[in-house]
Amino acid sequence: MLDLKDIESGYGETQVLYGLTLAAQAGRVLAILGRNGAGKSTTLKTIMGLLPRRAGEILFDGKPIATQPYDIAKSGIAYVPETRDIFPSLTVRENLEIAAKRFGGTDPDWTMERVLDVFPRLAERMDNGGTQLSGGEQQMLAIARGLLMNPRLLILDEPTEGLAPIIVKLIHDKLQDLKSAGLSMIIVEQNFGFATSLADDVVVVSKGQVVWTGTPEAIKADTEAQHTWLGV
Ligand SMILES: Nc1ncnc2c1ncn2[C@@H]1O[C@H](COP(=O)(O)OP(=O)(O)OP(=O)(O)O)[C@@H](O)[C@H]1O
Ligand SMILES: [Mg+2]
Repeated sequence: MLDLKDIESGYGETQVLYGLTLAAQAGRVLAILGRNGAGKSTTLKTIMGLLPRRAGEILFDGKPIATQPYDIAKSGIAYVPETRDIFPSLTVRENLEIAAKRFGGTDPDWTMERVLDVFPRLAERMDNGGTQLSGGEQQMLAIARGLLMNPRLLILDEPTEGLAPIIVKLIHDKLQDLKSAGLSMIIVEQNFGFATSLADDVVVVSKGQVVWTGTPEAIKADTEAQHTWLGV
């Protein structure tokens, strides 16, 4: 579904990705693991067209991906960044309305009603401002906004970062439901247990390259790989 081949990317003079190659398959969840600074977020920003690619190729459904972030989103990829990017001065409802009905393409389309069904907590917070939300509620809102864009591929950067265990469990269960419904996902995570329990496929990134590829079962059994690449 999404193929990255020999990607080189970075920030200004600083190169971060050095020939990164990975593939995300339709109907599956790919976890991208790796230590702090490995290049996970840089990989996602490069996919979304937020950072210029210096070399390499990205194919979505076998065709070169669009170059502008808006066009990439329109083609069916929703991105929930590490920073969540809730509009603080807008209410929950307004944050959702901005995303709603922008792009069609899934069947059935995600409606406001349907996302509030998934996240009933947001239904209780509709008139609250973005800044009045807890970290968990902000993450729910960020995911809900992503869904309203009717993606075929949902990309999440550290969805559990800074959240209490009970909220991590809730987010896990919601993503598990979305997976069961057939949504393709790429999840970047520091939380090894969370990532390996949701994923079908795992890649590990170190110093801007993929250094390990396999199944969640294989990485769970490979304590040496965990120690070398993840510091687990
Ligand atoms: N805006 C930036 N300008 C310059 N360098 C950056 C910028 N953002 C990240 N970097 C550098 O790029 C490298 C990779 O960062 P990246 O954010 O991709 O790591 P990561 O794997 O997502 O780590 P983390 O788990 O901490 O989120 C790091 O060395 C980081 O310092
Ligand atoms: Mg990151």
